[in-house]
Amino acid sequence: MTGDLPLFASAPRGFADLLVRELESLGARDVKEQGAGVRCTADLATAYRACLESRIANRIFVELARFEAETADSLYRHAREIPWPDHINELGTLACEFTGRHPAINHSHYGALRLKDAICDVLREEKGTRPDIQAERPDSLVHAHAQGTRVMVLLDLSGESLHRRGYRTRGGEAPIKENVAAGILMRSGWPTLAQESREFLDPLCGSGTFVIEAAMIALDRAPGLGREYFGFLGWMQHDAKIWNHVRDGAEARAAAALERETLAVSSAGRVRIRGSDRDSRAIAHATDNARRALVDSFVEFEQKPLIDVEAPQGTGLLCTNPPYGVRLDDQETARQTFRELGTVLRER
Ligand SMILES: C[S@@+](CC[C@H](N)C(=O)[O-])C[C@H]1O[C@@H](n2cnc3c(N)ncnc32)[C@H](O)[C@@H]1O
Repeated sequence: MTGDLPLFASAPRGFADLLVRELESLGARDVKEQGAGVRCTADLATAYRACLESRIANRIFVELARFEAETADSLYRHAREIPWPDHINELGTLACEFTGRHPAINHSHYGALRLKDAICDVLREEKGTRPDIQAERPDSLVHAHAQGTRVMVLLDLSGESLHRRGYRTRGGEAPIKENVAAGILMRSGWPTLAQESREFLDPLCGSGTFVIEAAMIALDRAPGLGREYFGFLGWMQHDAKIWNHVRDGAEARAAAALERETLAVSSAGRVRIRGSDRDSRAIAHATDNARRALVDSFVEFEQKPLIDVEAPQGTGLLCTNPPYGVRLDDQETARQTFRELGTVLRER
């Protein structure tokens, strides 16, 4: 592939418009919302930046082909026409997925199997060998997505969902996905409030996702800096020099913001980011997670019931994800928490 790459980025439901703006700001071109995601074109550096810096995307794909396939055999024949040796290392590992709805391919396993057959047959014919199949963290992850008989074949540059930032090893009770939390913060105007050094509070913080994402935004810390694995690392067109340059740039920006904020600690204008929860285990998880995300010196966690939460000194954003009572016997407790939240917000 030469020139700009055709990319597709998937987003959590309801966040595609924010992803459009984010990808435009990262330098992508022809950015358009499409279904649950965004299509655009980008050079390799921008594609890497999207994987490293997007706070909203679930995954970033390179589109390899689009075709009509009436049957699984037709999927196999069309998939064989893709120049696989340009993308996939025959000595590496491979996983394939089939998603969407197709009138003749009713089992996603079967669709994935035919895609895998096409890739492996081409590589064996052209290279004399084929990649091993590995479900977890393969060198190459290829998706076929069907909308009726229209099929898109995509190479997954992210490899695993970008909501996995690498800081959360333990969840706690119903943790919110990191990219959904970041999307809600962006929608709430937190990036501007953080620049104005306003306060942030999550009084039901659980494992601290909102607090940590709010701190990463305030500290201009790219969400992917803590990840060890990306799908593009095993791609035949991966360029380590460009990737290192993109990564070094993001590290330098995070270091500069950290220095700025550290200096501000001793003066008045520091952004204050706090979380509390009544559960001591949740607070222990949140503290561990913040340490791994390298934002621990900028956030404060406290074990405290909602009813004891005090009003912040300044203005800012309160953003929280209350328990919603999944099980029937949790519902009255959830109702009680909502009543308390109403009282605390109204009275303080
Ligand atoms: C849905 S979870 C929040 C998950 C969090 N957003 C995360 O990503 O981990 C709700 C949290 O509210 C806390 N909680 C419920 N009632 C509370 C109360 N009255 N006071 C303080 N915390 C409470 C629970 O301990 C739980 O951690």
